[in-house]
Amino acid sequence: MSTKISIVGLVFVALSLTFAQNDTDFLYENFPEDFEWGFATASYQIEGGWDADGKGENIWDEFTHRIPSPIKDNSTGDVACDSYHNYMQDVELLKNTGVNFYRFSLSWSRILPDGTNRTINQRGIDYYNKLINALIANGIEPMVTLYHWDLPQTLQAVGGWPNETVIHHFEGYARIAYSYFGDRVKKWITFNEAFVVCQQGYGDGVHAPGISSPVQSYDCAHNVLKSHALAYRLYEREFKESQGGECGITIDCGWYEPEDPNNPAHVEAAERAVTFKHGWYAFPVFFGDYPSVMRTLIDAKSQSEGLLESRLPSFDSYWSQQLNGSWDFLGLNHYTTELVVPENRTDPGWRGDQNTRTYQSEEWPPSASFWLRVVPWGFRKLLNWIKITYGNPLLYVTENGFSDTDAEGVNDQGRIDYYRDYTNNMLKAINLDGCNIKKYTAWSLMDNFEWAEGLTGALWCHYYTDPARPRTPKMSQSFLKKLFADNGFPLPKQ
Ligand SMILES: *[C@@H]1O[C@H](CO)[C@@H](O)[C@H](O)[C@H]1NC(C)=O
Ligand SMILES: *[C@@H]1O[C@H](CO)[C@@H](O)[C@H](O)[C@H]1NC(C)=O
Ligand SMILES: *[C@@H]1O[C@H](CO)[C@@H](O)[C@H](O)[C@H]1NC(C)=O
Ligand SMILES: *[C@@H]1O[C@H](CO)[C@@H](O)[C@H](O)[C@H]1NC(C)=O
Ligand SMILES: *[C@@H]1O[C@H](CO)[C@@H](O)[C@H](O)[C@H]1NC(C)=O
Ligand SMILES: *[C@@H]1O[C@H](CO)[C@@H](O)[C@H](O)[C@H]1NC(C)=O
Repeated sequence: MSTKISIVGLVFVALSLTFAQNDTDFLYENFPEDFEWGFATASYQIEGGWDADGKGENIWDEFTHRIPSPIKDNSTGDVACDSYHNYMQDVELLKNTGVNFYRFSLSWSRILPDGTNRTINQRGIDYYNKLINALIANGIEPMVTLYHWDLPQTLQAVGGWPNETVIHHFEGYARIAYSYFGDRVKKWITFNEAFVVCQQGYGDGVHAPGISSPVQSYDCAHNVLKSHALAYRLYEREFKESQGGECGITIDCGWYEPEDPNNPAHVEAAERAVTFKHGWYAFPVFFGDYPSVMRTLIDAKSQSEGLLESRLPSFDSYWSQQLNGSWDFLGLNHYTTELVVPENRTDPGWRGDQNTRTYQSEEWPPSASFWLRVVPWGFRKLLNWIKITYGNPLLYVTENGFSDTDAEGVNDQGRIDYYRDYTNNMLKAINLDGCNIKKYTAWSLMDNFEWAEGLTGALWCHYYTDPARPRTPKMSQSFLKKLFADNGFPLPKQ
C-alpha cells in the first residue's frame, strides 16, 4: 500500500504540472463514436405521489414533514415535479433533447412499502414498467439507480444504514428490481453518492435522517459498501448471464487542488482529501479495503481519544473478497473543485480525521449552490487521477451540472458555459489523456426538489417552479441538444 501512496503523490505533482489551471485552448474534436449522452434524476426529487397507490413512507418523507422543517424553504417532495403522474412529459423532454439514455432511480418504498420483500406493491412495479417501456419505445435506454437516498422509514426505525441488518433487506430489494425490470434494464447503479448518504445523513445531519455522529457516518459507509457487494454479487451470480447487463456504483467527488502546488505538505494534504472522499468508497470496491491513509489516521485518532476501537470499522477477509472487484463500471458524479491546505485537527469525524482544511477560491465563478463554483480544469485532473489510481476503469459520468436561480429564468447562459467547458475538459481527458469514459449524464433533466435547499434553492434544466409543473425548455436545452447530436465540438465554420 505504501508504494500506492507514493505513486499517488507523484500523480499529484504530474497533474499539477501538466495542465495549466487557466487552460483556455478549446478542443474542437468529437467524442468516440460509441460515446453516449443522457440526463439524470432521482425518485424523491421528481416523483411526488409520496403516499400514492400503496407507497410506504421513506426517510425523506419523514424528514421533510418534521415541524419545524429542516428544509430551507419548508418545502417537501410530496408533489415535486409530479413525475409519478407526468412521466410521459419527461420522456418527451428526453426525446426532444436526443439523449441515448435516461438515468433515474427507483423509490424502494414505492416497490416494497415496509422495505422488506414480504409485501410487493404491484402499483409501484406498474409505474416503473410504464416508464421503462415508454423510454424503450422512444429509443432511450434506461439506466437505473437502486438507491438515491430514500430509505424506507421502517428500516430507519431500527437504526437505518448504521445497522448491519439493513444489508440483507437491500439485497432482497435488489433481487426484486433485477427480477421485475432486468429483462429491459441493462445498466444498474447500486448506490448514488454513498458519501452523501452517510456523511450528510449520519455525520453532519443536514440530510435525512438528520443524525450527527462521527461514528455512525463510518458505520453507514461500511454497511452501504457491504450492501453494494451483496447486490453486485447477486447480479453476477443469478442475473448477468441471462440478462446481459452491467452493475456498478456511483461515487461523488470534486477535485482537490493543493493551495500551493510547490509545497509538498500541501500536495500530500490534497492527496489525503481526494483519498478520504473518493477512496473511502472506491478503494474497497477496487482493492478490497479502505485506503491505508484512512486506516492509519483514524485508528490513531480513535486511540488518542480513548475509544475502545477505531471508528473506522474493518472488513474481514470474507467481505474484503466480496468487495474486491465488485464493479463492471465506475459511476462518477462531479461538480466542482476545492483548494486544500494541511491542518492538524482534533474534531472527531470524517472532516477532522483527514487533517485538511478545504475552501474555494472567490475568483471561481459561483452558482446558486453555496458549494458549487465553476472550475472546468478540475474535472480533467480528477478524471486523470481516477485513471491512474484505479487502472483506467470503464467510467460513466453519471452527474455533472450547474445550478442557478429563478432570476435567470430560461436565459441560463451560465449553465451553457459550464456544460461547454466541463464537457470540453472531459473530451481532453478522453482524446488527449486516454481516459476510458463512455457516458456523460447531465444533472438534471429539470428543476426539482433540491434536498435541504428545498424547491427554490437550486434549479437545473427545464422549468419547474410554476404550480402547473410545465416543462419549459431553457436556453441550455438547445445547446445540449446540439452537443449530443454532434457528439462533440466540430470546428466552427470559418
Ligand atoms: C494563464 O496561463 C498562462 C500560460 O499558459 C500564463 O502566462 C498566465 O499568467 C495565466 N493566467 C492566469 C490568470 O493564471
Ligand atoms: C418555515 O416555517 C417556520 C415555522 O416552522 C417559519 O417561522 C418560517 O418563516 C418558514 N420559512 C419559510 C421560508 O416559509
Ligand atoms: C438492528 O435491526 C434489527 C432488526 O432488523 C433490530 O432487531 C435491532 O435491534 C437493530 N439494532 C439496533 C442497534 O438498533
Ligand atoms: C425475500 O428475501 C429472502 C432473503 O433474501 C429470499 O430468501 C426470498 O426468496 C425473497 N423473496 C422474494 C419474493 O424475492
Ligand atoms: C483483490 O484482488 C486482487 C486481484 O484478484 C488481488 O491481487 C488482491 O490481493 C485482492 N485484495 C485483497 C485485499 O484481497
Ligand atoms: C501537524 O503536527 C505535526 C506533528 O506535531 C507537525 O510536524 C506539523 O507541522 C503540523 N502541521 C500543521 C499544518 O500544523
